[in-house]
Parts: sequence; C-alpha cells; structure tokens
Amino acid sequence: MSAQDPACQLLARQQDNYDALWVVGPPIDSWLVDRSAGVVSGDHDVLIEWATKGKQVRTPFDIATDDALGNGQDKDIVLFWPKAHQLGIWWLKWLCEQLPSGTPFDIVGAHLGGIKRVPQMLEELGLPWDKRDNARRCTLFASHTVALNSASGSSDTAWQTFETPGLTLVSHPGVFGHGKVDEGTLLMLESLESSLPKKPLKVLDMGCGDGIISAWLAQRGHLVTAVDVSAFAVEACKRTLTANGLEGRVLRSDVFSALEGEQFDWIVSNPPFHKERDISYGPSQRLISKAPEHLKTGGRLVIVANGFLPYPDHLQRAFQDFHILADNRRFKVYTAKQLSR
Ligand SMILES: C[S@@+](CC[C@H](N)C(=O)[O-])C[C@H]1O[C@@H](n2cnc3c(N)ncnc32)[C@H](O)[C@@H]1O
Repeated sequence: MSAQDPACQLLARQQDNYDALWVVGPPIDSWLVDRSAGVVSGDHDVLIEWATKGKQVRTPFDIATDDALGNGQDKDIVLFWPKAHQLGIWWLKWLCEQLPSGTPFDIVGAHLGGIKRVPQMLEELGLPWDKRDNARRCTLFASHTVALNSASGSSDTAWQTFETPGLTLVSHPGVFGHGKVDEGTLLMLESLESSLPKKPLKVLDMGCGDGIISAWLAQRGHLVTAVDVSAFAVEACKRTLTANGLEGRVLRSDVFSALEGEQFDWIVSNPPFHKERDISYGPSQRLISKAPEHLKTGGRLVIVANGFLPYPDHLQRAFQDFHILADNRRFKVYTAKQLSR
C-alpha cells in the first residue's frame, strides 16, 4: 500500500529516517496508519482508524494516557499542519508543553493549506526550523520543542470565551462557529422556548460544537447528554457547561456510536453537513434514520437546517411524518415524533 495523501507521499520519501513514527493531527491514509506506531488527534474517525489497526491512540485531552508521547526521545513525531492556522499554533504550543525542551519533531503540510507560512509562526514562538524536503506541493520542516516564553502564552490561551445573551460560550479554533452563534441554532432555540415541556427531559444534543444547545437546555433544567465527533468540541462543550455552572454528560461519538441502546425524550441538533470543505450528508442522514431507535415512544427529534438541504425526505422516511416549527426563509426547524416502535 503506497501513500495516497500528498503530505504522506512526501513523508514516504523520508521513511528511512523514521523508526517509530508518532503522527499528530494526520489525515486518514492507510500507508500512514501501517507505518506509524501511534497517533494524537482530535478527530474521532482518525482515532478509530488507528485503533482498529492496533496502534496507540490518544486525544490531546486524555489525561489518563498522558505519557503516550513519553519524553519523545524514542519517537519520530510529525505534526500535520491543519487548515486552521490558529489550531496549528495550538498544536505547536501543546507539543512544547508535553515534551521536554529540545525534543525534535517535524511538520508537514500542503502549500494550499498554508505550510509556507509556518516558518514565520515558528519564529514568532521562538522555535527553530529547517527545511527538510519539498515535493507533491507539500513541504516538510524540522524543528524542536522549546520552553515557551510568557509572550507566546500557553496552549490554554487558545480557549476563548464569548458572551451570548444568557450564556457564556467557551470555544477553540477549529470548533464549529468559534465565537459566532449560528443563525440556525438561534432560530431553533427560539422556537424551542415555547414548545419544550417544562418538566426535566432526558435530552441528547447531537453534534454539540461549543455546547450552546447543551448549555441552553441544561439551564432550563433538562438532563443533557452531548456528543460530537471532535475531541476539541467535546472539551469546548465541557468548558461551556462549567463556565455557566451547569452539568451534563459530554462524549466523543460518531453520531450514535457511543450511545448504543440508549433512548432519550428529545434529540436536538444543528446537524453537520460538511466534512472539512466538502458537503457530506452522511452523519445527518444517520442521525435522522437512527433517531427513532434512540427516542422513547412519544419522543421528539428537533433539527435545524438550511432550507435547501434534503432533510424533509429523510424525516418522512424515518418518521412517516414531520412538522416545521419555524422558518425564516434561510433556515427551517423541523420536528418529528416517535409514535410507536
Ligand atoms: C453545525 S455544527 C453545530 C454545533 C453546535 N451544536 C451549534 O449549534 O452551534 C455540527 C457539529 O457536528 C459535529 N459533527 C460532525 N460530524 C459528526 C458526527 N459524525 N457525529 C457527531 N458529531 C458530528 C461537528 O464537529 C460540529 O460540531
């Protein structure tokens, strides 16, 4: 199996230099999975791919596996530069905090993804750099960790707090919205204010992002479970709940994967329809088709979506009926009831 992703093809040219490859924030590429010993990622799909092949996996927030990177001396660590530069800077700081000063690591990325700007960012953080290779419209740099100075700030400074009416939101570069409250989410919350029962419900927030829906529901006394495929979103949602003095269960899950056999009174979601920059209806389709199994009899699914998305057809197939709770021309809020099983 040869590397398919261009950044992995560039790494493949250097593979004799890598004995124990630990990749940070990589794309899914079979060659890379086979070639590496472990992965650090916030992406559930990536973690599952590596775990399925028996490799070591961790998110940057797994305290229990904190020693996975060890002192880094016996590992060849490669950071894949993400499209969101602020997230890339966060990973650089995280590596500097996790590993002893002077631990070597490489950074690889595509020219289209902005890798050529990385040397400037490294210099601003006081990290050295050296260009190692360049091919497939990608570049590979070598660097090593340093003790960050106070001007650089810790990785924790990337967590930002935003005020919305009635709630404080905590977010991180790369988490949906990041400081902007989605117009569709707002429309859904407004329409729920009058339709949501006052008695405490067991509610699932599917694709929680920074946790705005979870916090809004928990603030109204409901028992919230929040899930998201991104470990950064899971951490953001936990921090949002804490910032508002609220409680909830927050899990990393690919749609319902962490919730086997569980049922809820309501499922509320602003479902994803993008993966990176591509349109992908897969998760939202799975959410709608599997929702009846995860709702108690009489339970409700409430979702918001751009008017052009094909959700009415999916809802009709899964629930045989649905209603429009709100419609502001750009967004529609749909609700469907689980009548029997
Ligand atoms: C449109 S955003 C909504 C975020 C937040 N609930 C809000 O209303 O602002 C969709 C969220 O779904 C998450 N997501 C994407 N694919 C998913 C999947 N397969 N399973 C669970 N969550 C997913 C994304 O990470 C993102 O946080």
